[in-house]
Amino acid sequence: MKNCVYNFILAIIMTILSISIHAADIKAGRDKAVMCQGCHGLNGNSVVPIFPKLAGQHAAYLESALKAYRDGLRKSTSAKQMIPMATILSDDDIANLAAFYSQVK
Ligand code: HEC
Repeated sequence: MKNCVYNFILAIIMTILSISIHAADIKAGRDKAVMCQGCHGLNGNSVVPIFPKLAGQHAAYLESALKAYRDGLRKSTSAKQMIPMATILSDDDIANLAAFYSQVK
């Protein structure tokens, strides 16, 4: 019985650790977002109609959009402005940026 309780506690600790290791870093995302501000506005609230607003967008959507630019799947005329930005981002950068923009208003 005692072993069972220890194993249960150990499983919970390991779950918490693995979540925190993979959690996106909002602060790192905010730091990276400096290079996006010129077009997408402060905190992703673009005031220029040709630049989409990113603030409050779902993180999963932001991640897939950024990967689509980076991997050459979005390549319209307007997408050409995004491709050079996205190609220098790592998977971690993308996860952090998505986490940051999804939680700003
Ligand atoms: C030179 C201007 C410019 C910069 C700098 C820029 N973007 Fe963009 N971004 C655009 C344009 C234009 C679009 C719309 C492209 C299209 O039509 O697909 C866009 C689209 C996006 C989208 C897709 C939005 C949607 O609703 O589908 C995301 C996500 C995005 N940008 C994130 C970023 C991030 C993160 C950065 C900084 C690393 C960044 N952008 C820097 C111009 C820019």
